[in-house]
Amino acid sequence: MKIIANFKMNKTPFETKEYLMNIVPKSKDFNQEIILCLPYTSIAIGKFMTEGTSIKIGAQNLCEEEEGHSTGEISGRMLKDAGVSYVLVGHSERRSKFKENSKALNKKIKSALKNGLNVILCVGETLAERNTLKTAQVLKDEIEEALKGLYENELENITIAYEPIWAIGSGKTLAVKEIDMAAGIIRKVITNDFSPSAGENISIVYGGSVNSKNVGQISKAKKINGLLIGGACLDESSFLQILSTTNH
Ligand code: 13P
Repeated sequence: MKIIANFKMNKTPFETKEYLMNIVPKSKDFNQEIILCLPYTSIAIGKFMTEGTSIKIGAQNLCEEEEGHSTGEISGRMLKDAGVSYVLVGHSERRSKFKENSKALNKKIKSALKNGLNVILCVGETLAERNTLKTAQVLKDEIEEALKGLYENELENITIAYEPIWAIGSGKTLAVKEIDMAAGIIRKVITNDFSPSAGENISIVYGGSVNSKNVGQISKAKKINGLLIGGACLDESSFLQILSTTNH
């Protein structure tokens, strides 16, 4: 199982160090693949503190360009050299607040893969889209636009994170049945666009208000391979609780 923590815009490098001093020594007790998507400024300390452990470091975004005139941006090549192995692409907060469109997301994914990074592609519907039964169409469109032009073998380095936008930070979660239904839709899209084995093997995680109390229930979903956690990963004891509940 993959447990991905998205720190979003939280924790200074010093605070990240204090956090990791509590998490790293205990990480050997867990079998999951633990991925910490840190703010850019915490990547160096995160990499240093997790050296020699199975914890992987992720970033939360990358620039679609390789280098040059893009003040304030960070490229895939820079992330790779900084020791990052995963990068989130297309988080709904970036799509809505920073107006990232599907064309740019497709370029970001290609640049990440070219630089040897694993991609966590975030997709998910708004509440209005859900209420008007558009979830399946939204997931199909977001996945197809983002993965346009990719080869099937490149899917090995892609994880799809299903995060219903209305469930992020709201305390609202889906029933296990609904998570499996969405994961089924995602697998079908990949099956149709690539192959049945690609649809079966694509890695899917669920995100949206997962916490130490509901994680036992949510992780019963059979068609997902892990979880993407925001707020509940920021507190060490709550994150450790999530890790121990999902440690099978
Ligand atoms: P919360 O777990 O805080 O709802 O955030 C989910 C998320 O957006 C992770 O990427």
